[in-house]
This record gives sequence, C-alpha cells and structure tokens, in this order.
Amino acid sequence: MHDKIDLLIINGLVVTPQASFEAAIAITDGKIVAIGDAGCLPEAEEILDAAGLAILPGAIDVHVHFRDPGYTHKEDWESGTAAAAYGGVTTVFDMPNTIPTVATPDVLAQKHAIAASKAHVDYGLYAVLGEESIDHLEGLIEAGIIGFKCYMGNTFGRIPSPSTGAMLELFERVAPTGLRISLHAETNSVMERRETRLRAAGKNAPLDHLASRPAVVAIEAVERAATLAEWTGARIHVLHISSKDELRPLAEAKARGVDVTGETGPHYLMLSTDDYARFKGRIRVNPPVREPDNQQPLWAALESGVIDMIATDHAPHSAEEKDRPVIWDVDCGFPGVETQMPLMLTAVAEGRISLNHYVKLSSEAPAKAFGLYPRKGALLPGADADLAIVDLNAAWTIDDAELHSRSKASPWQGRDVKGRVIHTIVRGRFVLRDGSLQAETRGTGRSVHAIQQMPAPRPRNVDKTLVAVTRNDGA
Ligand code: NCD
Ligand code: ZN
Repeated sequence: MHDKIDLLIINGLVVTPQASFEAAIAITDGKIVAIGDAGCLPEAEEILDAAGLAILPGAIDVHVHFRDPGYTHKEDWESGTAAAAYGGVTTVFDMPNTIPTVATPDVLAQKHAIAASKAHVDYGLYAVLGEESIDHLEGLIEAGIIGFKCYMGNTFGRIPSPSTGAMLELFERVAPTGLRISLHAETNSVMERRETRLRAAGKNAPLDHLASRPAVVAIEAVERAATLAEWTGARIHVLHISSKDELRPLAEAKARGVDVTGETGPHYLMLSTDDYARFKGRIRVNPPVREPDNQQPLWAALESGVIDMIATDHAPHSAEEKDRPVIWDVDCGFPGVETQMPLMLTAVAEGRISLNHYVKLSSEAPAKAFGLYPRKGALLPGADADLAIVDLNAAWTIDDAELHSRSKASPWQGRDVKGRVIHTIVRGRFVLRDGSLQAETRGTGRSVHAIQQMPAPRPRNVDKTLVAVTRNDGA
C-alpha cells in the first residue's frame, strides 16, 4: 500500500511543444510525478476532470510591471498576480522601475518582502543595470535576482539610460556572472531630439509618439547591444521587439553566436497604426505599436526562431493617466498579462501558429533562456506542477472593466477572442479554480531565483576589461 497522491487531472488534452495527447497528470508535493493512462496512475486525494479542456504549461511572462512599491494606484503584487492567474500565467518577472528603482540590495530586499507577502503566482525580480547599480551588482545577485534590466531608452519612470561606455563596463561586469541582461533597446538620444522638435512644432497627436521613435531607434540599439554582448560574452535578451527592421540585427547576432534571445508581445502582432484613432492615448506604449506591415514579419520570426518568446510588457496605468489630451502627457503602456493567452489562443484558432508552438513560445523558451528549465516550463515528471487549463472553444469579448489588473484601460477593449483560462495551478495549488481566484493563495508565490541555473558563463576579452586594464598589480 502506498499513500495517495495529491491531485490527478484526468481526460484533458496535454499540450507540449512536441505533441498534444490525451493523458492524466499525477501531481504531488507541488510536482508532476507522472503523465500517462489514468488507470496506471496512483490514487489521489482529489481528481479534476478536465474533459474538453487543454492542459498547457503555465505561461512564463518575463516582462511585467507590477508597480509595487511606489505606484500601487496602478497595480500592486496582489492585483498584478491575480491578473496573471486569470491569464494562465504561473511565473512573472517584474521590472525594476518601481520606487525607489531596484538598484541596491536593500531596495531589492524590500521588494522581495512585499512580493512574498502578496503574490499568487511565482516570480523573479529584475535589478536595474546602470550607473546607479554598478557598485552593487554582486550584492544584488546575492539578494536574489532573475536578471538585469538595462534601459537604453527612456520610458516610464525616467530611469537614465547608460552611455555606451557605461554599458560596455556593465556588460563586462555581468558577463562572468552568467546572468542575462534584458534590454529596452531604443536609443535615447534619437528619441529625445525628435520628441523635442515634435513638441516645438506643436505635434501632440497619438501618432506623433510613433514619429518620435521610428524603427531606426530599435535597429541601432539592438545592433549596438549585440556588439557589446559579443565583445564581452554577456548574455542579452531583447525586450518588446516591435518592428520588422530590428529582426535583421537580431538574426545576424544569433548567426554570429551571440547569446541573445528576443521577445515580442500580442500588441505588436495584432495592433497597428490603424488602431491609433480609436484608442488614442490608450495605445501609447514604448516601443510604439507600428505600421501594419510589421506584423507578418514578426509572426514569421516567431515561427523561424529569430524571436524566441511571447511576453506582455504588462504596464498598467489609470484611465486618467491614459486619457490625457496631449500625447506626451500620457503614461506609456497598458495591461497585458491577463489577455496574452486568450489573444494568442485566438491566433491558434485562426491557424496563425500551432498550439504546440505557442506553448514553446509562452513557457518553454522563457524557462530555458532564464535557467529555469525543466523545473519550470515543462510538462514532465519532476517539473513544478504549473499549469494553465483552458477551454480552447470558449468565445468571449475582452472588456477592460472586467480585467483583474487595477488598470482598466487597454487597446484590447471590445476585442473578440477564443480561448479562456478555467484553472491555473501553481506548484500543484489551484490559484484559479473554475474561473475564480482563490483568495487564500495570496502570499504563496515564491521567487524563482533560488532554482535558477544558468549555463556556465563565457566572458570574452577579459584581459581588456576596464577592471583588468586599470588593475594596479605593481608591474
Ligand atoms: C513601461 C512602464 O510603464 O513601466 N511602459 C511601456 O510603455 N512599455 C516601461 C517599459 O517597459 O518600457
Ligand atoms: Zn520596456
């Protein structure tokens, strides 16, 4: 006689990057212990009948802004992770542009405490990479980060972008740690100059935001970052790829062997300049939503692997902050963590991508890029039981008022989608059950930095780093 396991999920369609098949999943102590024929699996305390539903690995969203501490009227760790749970997202990586900026171990420890007390899902925390953190990199790593975020361009929070000289030194210092540097790859000087001139010319309309940041800002930034990554051996991740044009420097860097990954989000795949008149300030985001001819190449890059993953850049703001009449006064970004899966499942239903490829983009690839695979991002025995159980046939209409983010202002308002998250399970625990958030899971989310295992670092040109060339060794 052996003990019963905790949970057996039967009759669902199990979806992995390789295949979809009907099978039961046995879960105990937060982990998947077996996948197979229900008749061959042990007895369980609880059985969930998932007939008619698909079982996906929970999404890992490597780019969210949960605003806590500092801007909790926009979002906090409770509301942000609740929205994640409703969206089938079981792990999020939170950006450092909270108040104060996450640049020191003390500030990081403060955010860890807040997140641990409120989170419904698992998370990683980014630290900023810039002049303000350069003397704290080791302390930040010890205090527990998933990676660094480098702002090459100014965005919400006005974190200064480091000069190329500073970036080179920062990359030199991060390369030996093996951690990945996520980049907001838009070149600041170009955008500042253009915005100043547009304002002076009285250009204040939503599309003037796009005029201030043409794709060349991203091309130039991706190219420059890839050069620095290649020279130093630092690993990089290009956030929110918005244009067809930046795919060239990204693909070239990959071909040269640079360890670079990239993400795009539903708004760059499904929205375009055609949507500005309708959504006005609500569509303002950095980088901007661009001309329609960018969409197809971005889809193709997801297919070919030039872009590795889907992330949302969930960037909540209040309706008042989004609806200001002068575009330059509107806060950039909008919520996305809750709508990513239904939007992408709609694309699956339309035949744009396969369901198997989708779970690779939403779960496996982010886990691999950030050293969490196969503990996260895999439906395999031994993996954390992080699952999104979805009804692929449920048709519904996105209504901002019903979002669980504190932000109720998005350019997805009124959009018809197909695919709904019914249950979200994090380490074997129902966080969303039958479409309802389980309030008692507040504070059960955990930081994943402790289970992160990046591949061995491969720093390059170590004899030429600033530290090396200024070392006073008496020679
Ligand atoms: C983000 C925010 O609001 O924090 N805004 C945005 O437009 N994307 C910042 C960012 O990710 O660039
Ligand atoms: Zn960004």
